[in-house]
Amino acid sequence: MTQKNGLNESRFASLRPLSIGGVRLKNNLALAPMAGITNAAFRILAVEGGAGLVVTEMVSAESLKYGNKKSFKMLELLPGEHPAAIQVFGADPSSMALAAQAAERAGADLVDINAGCPVKKVLRSGAGAALMKTPLLLGDIISRMVKSVKIPVTVKFRVGLTIGENLGPLLARVCEEAGAAAITLHGRPASQFHTGPVNLAYMAETAAAVKIPVFGNGGVEDAAGARAMLEAGCAGAAVGRAAVFNPAVFSEIAAGLSGGLSAPLSTAARMKLFLRFLELNAGIYGEEHGLARARKLVGYWLKGLPGAAGARGAFMRLKTLKEAEALLIQYTKG
Ligand SMILES: Cc1cc2nc3c(=O)[nH]c(=O)nc-3n(C[C@H](O)[C@H](O)[C@H](O)COP(=O)(O)O)c2cc1C
Repeated sequence: MTQKNGLNESRFASLRPLSIGGVRLKNNLALAPMAGITNAAFRILAVEGGAGLVVTEMVSAESLKYGNKKSFKMLELLPGEHPAAIQVFGADPSSMALAAQAAERAGADLVDINAGCPVKKVLRSGAGAALMKTPLLLGDIISRMVKSVKIPVTVKFRVGLTIGENLGPLLARVCEEAGAAAITLHGRPASQFHTGPVNLAYMAETAAAVKIPVFGNGGVEDAAGARAMLEAGCAGAAVGRAAVFNPAVFSEIAAGLSGGLSAPLSTAARMKLFLRFLELNAGIYGEEHGLARARKLVGYWLKGLPGAAGARGAFMRLKTLKEAEALLIQYTKG
């Protein structure tokens, strides 16, 4: 537990509204950005499930610059999902400034910079976690974006590139000085992708290094996990995969942080949510394409259920919502 101004931080380890550069969030729990997952349909479920902020999948600044239709489609926000951040990635300050303007025009409340993606293709372009090696460039990107839009600019990065490396405090100061309004800190190094423990001690040092809010991210699945982030001095927590399994996890965490208890969502209720997701997806992409885009999520939703492997295989071949309902109905009873 950290001490700040002589006060015990655990007093503040609670659910609370938060402001990011003037944008008010109803609480300090955010949906973490996930490529292939946090599309508009999923973000609606997360908002309904209690998230105070949702973030899009990462969108390529270079693709936006060249007018790529698919990338522009990724900027589309639905009325029910605000406040929402659009996350962009790139390594060129002018492309990133243009991307920030496109995000602002699309109605984003915030624009987030991906400075933590460990995927080779992204690293090779100098973007994602590669920006952690080039703090001057990161600062330049941030200040160019800040000057180009009225909405707040935020940054997501990792504690380090490899295990034992603690780049957070330096990078957080770079972000703050360049005008970023908040940070999301993934507590695992880039070399670990999404596995292994988070380094809470490093996270605490980063949170203490700046005045702007720092959202702690990595492995938060319940109120205890979120409390650990808040006790490390983070202003909020960002939840990734646990929200894919259960988009109502935010309400469950909120109840736990407020000292209450909320019964975990039943399998039947979760499956009804998944069917709602499929309907929303169909509305955005059309029935067949919407189902194809849901394939990445189905493993999370069916995890641990009887006959999951078979149902997952069958899901890959579905073409209509009716077929999806017929397949999943077995899990919606009770
Ligand atoms: C499938 C998948 C896609 C992801 N895509 C992105 C992304 O587009 N941008 C980003 O900043 N992080 C991305 N991440 C990282 C998550 O935002 C988050 O930092 C990570 O999953 C750790 O949080 P968790 O342990 O709560 O899942 C992705 C993670 C996963 C599992």
